[in-house]
Amino acid sequence: MSDPADRGDVSPEAIREFRELVASLPADDDAEAWAAREAVARAAAAADVRRSLEQRGRLLVEKGFPLAALDDALSPELDMACPPLARVARWNPGEHPLLALAGSTGIGKTVAAAWWALHCRVPGMRFVRATTFARLRGRAHQELLDAGALVLDDLGEEPLDRAGIVLANLGELVDVFYQARKPLLVTSNLRDVDFAERYGERIASRWRQRGRWAEFGGAPSRRPPPTERQRSLV
Ligand SMILES: Nc1ncnc2c1ncn2[C@@H]1O[C@H](COP(=O)(O)OP(=O)(O)O)[C@@H](O)[C@H]1O
Ligand SMILES: [Mg+2]
Repeated sequence: MSDPADRGDVSPEAIREFRELVASLPADDDAEAWAAREAVARAAAAADVRRSLEQRGRLLVEKGFPLAALDDALSPELDMACPPLARVARWNPGEHPLLALAGSTGIGKTVAAAWWALHCRVPGMRFVRATTFARLRGRAHQELLDAGALVLDDLGEEPLDRAGIVLANLGELVDVFYQARKPLLVTSNLRDVDFAERYGERIASRWRQRGRWAEFGGAPSRRPPPTERQRSLV
């Protein structure tokens, strides 16, 4: 930039404006430009991550995951300190392939399960409600046994039949996931003592050997569900 005062043909006003402009420039405008470029790169990376999570979310809808829980898990207002979510975020299925998130309705168990499925990247992820699982037979049942990882939602809500078929099917599911060390994430309203009583010592002892039963007390989350505008998967 040449100073107009060096040329004889400009007004004092123009000279003053020019000097103000020079004074207003940052001391090191290279550093500022670098910071701006870095901010742009960071935003682009965050947008990439978001796009890939949304893409996985759409796939998970096809694998049985509830859209509302996925949307909550993708919401910018998601609270990572919510206890079931904080617990599943530090789950290591390699060490304990069976994990139960237990506690009353509305504490964030299903949202935590959806968040886990979005982030864990295990292939062959499936979701099934326990009430549906209890009715499945044949191929549909086998497909769940063959899943790479499974979320079994609301265990304990399914009716148990007199012949014990549902219990046998659940026992088989736990055995298959336990033996293959495949992640099985259960949500339930049951306390661990009720779990052992309802499903019997064999299933309960499998769970104790390779699993964790995480129980949460406390009031349900008071956060209102996200508005339509915030939803990203529809
Ligand atoms: N981590 C979280 N952060 C913010 N809000 C949450 C979170 N988890 C759940 N919620 C809110 O609580 C509601 C109930 O969560 P949900 O997972 O369905 O509970 P549960 O499966 O324990 O009955 C959700 O609809 C959502 O609005
Ligand atoms: Mg739920």
